[in-house]
Amino acid sequence: MKMKAVVLYGSPRRNGNSETLAKSFLEGLKTRGICEVKEFYVNEMKIRPCQMCQSCSKPEQIELAPNSCVIRDDMQEIYSAFADAETVVFATPIFWGYMTAQLKAALDRMEAIASDKYFGRKTYVVIITYWRHYETLVSFFRRAIAGYFSDVKLHTILYCSLDKDSGEDIHVSNCKQKLEEAYELGRSMGSG
Ligand SMILES: Cc1cc2nc3c(=O)[nH]c(=O)nc-3n(C[C@H](O)[C@H](O)[C@H](O)COP(=O)(O)O)c2cc1C
Repeated sequence: MKMKAVVLYGSPRRNGNSETLAKSFLEGLKTRGICEVKEFYVNEMKIRPCQMCQSCSKPEQIELAPNSCVIRDDMQEIYSAFADAETVVFATPIFWGYMTAQLKAALDRMEAIASDKYFGRKTYVVIITYWRHYETLVSFFRRAIAGYFSDVKLHTILYCSLDKDSGEDIHVSNCKQKLEEAYELGRSMGSG
């Protein structure tokens, strides 16, 4: 059976650390079976922040357009891909202690489909790249996703890109071991 995966890239920079790790993971995932992957670079998409109009929980709206948001923008593409996927990858750098604003905007808009039907029974792979902190974000995914929805599996891949001696950002392509870790996780999850 074809496995479906969806990837949300949170970094504004292409080919950065988080994207590179996600690509290694996907390479591994694809070795073991037929896999359909939908990738979204949220920085390059039109995603308006949630307005908390709460239309998504009003009965009229639910009847009219179930599990979607009244704001018609690029989120509509993400909703349908997310609904179909068994594996969800969130790849983001830490910006000021949390996921990037771009990814946060997308996640806020996921409120429209925040039910067990859509978030449950999935495997989440959270890829976080950082200099000094990642704990707040890991804790969010553990509590708000793995701890909240049913039958959820959560894996994390963490990469510190700061070279503490030079103060420079070291691209993950220099860290074979990390790329291997991401690849192996993908390989272990691929359907054989
Ligand atoms: C605006 C900005 C804010 C950042 N804030 C943090 C932070 O609060 N904590 C941290 O550990 N790293 C922080 N970083 C470092 C990035 O998370 C790190 O460079 C990461 O590896 C970049 O990933 P990318 O290549 O996928 O974009 C920040 C970087 C930028 C540009």
